Amino acid sequence: MTQVLAIASQKGGVGKTTTAINLGSYLAQAGHETLIIDLDPQGNATSGLSVRSPVPTPLSDLWGGQSKWQKLAAPTAIPSLALFPGPARSGEPLEGFSLRSARIADLRAELDAASWDHVIIDSPPSLGPLTSLSLAWADAVLVPVQCEYFAMEGLTQMLELVDRANQGRSKPLEILGILLTLFSETHQLSVEVATEVRKYFPREVLETIIPRDIALAEATSHGEPVCRYAPRSRGAWAYLNLAKEILANECAQAR
Ligand SMILES: Nc1ncnc2c1ncn2[C@@H]1O[C@H](COP(=O)(O)OP(=O)(O)O)[C@@H](O)[C@H]1O
Ligand SMILES: [Mg+2]
Repeated sequence: MTQVLAIASQKGGVGKTTTAINLGSYLAQAGHETLIIDLDPQGNATSGLSVRSPVPTPLSDLWGGQSKWQKLAAPTAIPSLALFPGPARSGEPLEGFSLRSARIADLRAELDAASWDHVIIDSPPSLGPLTSLSLAWADAVLVPVQCEYFAMEGLTQMLELVDRANQGRSKPLEILGILLTLFSETHQLSVEVATEVRKYFPREVLETIIPRDIALAEATSHGEPVCRYAPRSRGAWAYLNLAKEILANECAQAR
């Protein structure tokens, strides 16, 4: 069964794209056929994996039925990891786009039929229609929270959007977790924010914390996942542990 995970937060710079790329690459390395869908018009996941789109407007082509997921998904340097490229920089107008459209369910069914084990959707930094589309396609959502000032701000809004996305769904959207990112153990503020978020959301916060590590930023700017660019870095270990935690949760739920 295909598991679709949306990575979403209306805030930019919290580590959504970094998480999509690196979680995706470790799941693929663990032998799971994985697809990353880049739904952010900025296309950072696409450039972060050095992928060039086969067509100028992949999402429109998919939406309009001119092409299929498998055709548009491009291979990456990691075996078992494919990427559905992001829309052009200007964004893509989707003909007849409506969140109530039956097209959403059709495309999700086509995604299931394409037999990827894991699909990870990188969402844009907004609460707009593309994030809603990402949530509509997903079984679960992961919300990265940067361990900095105003971390809590926006988290409630994001969780409200998840609630709204749940209306009218037969199977509820699961909150897979809140992921603490850009954590600096030497910064008192970072420690305080992590403690605060855990206090308010004790069940939602994942055990794995992603440290601030320059290797993660460098890897993306070199167009590589960290498992290839700096596999022994702290950031690499953290994302490997995140993949393990998520797979362990899945196993526990399947029992
Ligand atoms: N754990 C981290 N340590 C250091 N830099 C990071 C980390 N996570 C993300 N970055 C960098 O911070 C910036 C924002 O991260 P990104 O993943 O693009 O966030 P978002 O997709 O939420 O906007 C990028 O330049 C990225 O390389
Ligand atoms: Mg991003």
